[in-house]
Amino acid sequence: MGSSDTASNVAVPRHVAIIMDGNGRWAQRRFMPRVEGHRRGAQTVRRITEAAARSGVGYLTLFAFSSENWRRPADEVGALMSLFAVALKREALNLRDNGIQLRVAGELSRFSPEIQDGIRECEQMTANGRNMVLTVCANYGGRWDILSAMRSILSERPDIAKNPECITESMISEHLAFNWAPEVDLMIRTGGEQRISNFILWQAAYAELYTSSVLWPDFGPEELQKALNWYAGRERRFGMTGEQIQAQKLGSK
Ligand code: IPE
Ligand code: IPE
Ligand code: MG
Repeated sequence: MGSSDTASNVAVPRHVAIIMDGNGRWAQRRFMPRVEGHRRGAQTVRRITEAAARSGVGYLTLFAFSSENWRRPADEVGALMSLFAVALKREALNLRDNGIQLRVAGELSRFSPEIQDGIRECEQMTANGRNMVLTVCANYGGRWDILSAMRSILSERPDIAKNPECITESMISEHLAFNWAPEVDLMIRTGGEQRISNFILWQAAYAELYTSSVLWPDFGPEELQKALNWYAGRERRFGMTGEQIQAQKLGSK
C-alpha cells in the first residue's frame, strides 16, 4: 500500500474514490421509481470508468452498496442486486478490452452465489488489465474494513494481543480491503451531500474532498474533469507548511 507522501503532489490523482449518490432523487424528480435511477446510475459507471482511465487515473474506487444499504426496502435491495449481477456479466468483456482490471471489495459472503460467481469470473477475466484498476465496493463499510483488518491481524498473530505495541500502521494498511491500491488522493461525492457515509476511512486520511451537487446519473465525463481540474489546483501539505511544500517542489525540479 502506498503512503501519503508528497510525491502524490502531481496533477492527475493516482487514486480517485467516488461516492455515487443521487440515483433515487434523480428518478423521483422524474416521477419514476427509484430503481430507474439505479439503472441510469449503472450506465454512468461505464462512462466514468472509461473517462477516468483516459485521464490517466490509475485506481478508481466506486462505492456501489454500503454495509448500511441493506436497511433499504427489500424490493430496492433486490433490484440493486439484480443490476449488480447483470453488470458483472455485461461489462466483463468491455473492461477486458479496455485493459481495466476489476476488483470487488467488501463483505462478499452476504451476496448470492450467482453474484459471488459473477465477481470471481469478472475478476479473473480482467486480471491482466494494465490501464486502470477499478475497485467496486459492495457491502463495504469503512468501519467493517478496519474491524476485519484487526481481526485478521490477531488471527494470524495471536501473540500480538499480549504485545499491542507491535501493531503498526503499515500492518493495518496491509490487512485492509484494496491493499493493492495506494491511498486515496481524491474523494468525490455526487448528489450534494457532504458526508462520508462510512466509505473509505483509513485509506482516505489525506484525500482531497470534492462534492458535486450533480446527481450520479447526470455525472458525465465533463463533471469528472471539473473535479480533476479542481484537484490539480490543490496544495497537499500532509501536515507541513505551504513554504515547505514549495521548497520541496523547487528542489525536485
Ligand atoms: C446511490 O443513490 C446509490 C446507492 C446508495 C445504492 P441513492 O439511492 O442513495 O440516491 P438518493 O441519495 O436516494 O438520491
Ligand atoms: C452512500 O450513499 C452509499 C453509496 C453511494 C453506495 P447513501 O445514500 O447510502 O448515504 P446516506 O444514507 O445518505 O448517508
Ligand atoms: Mg443516497
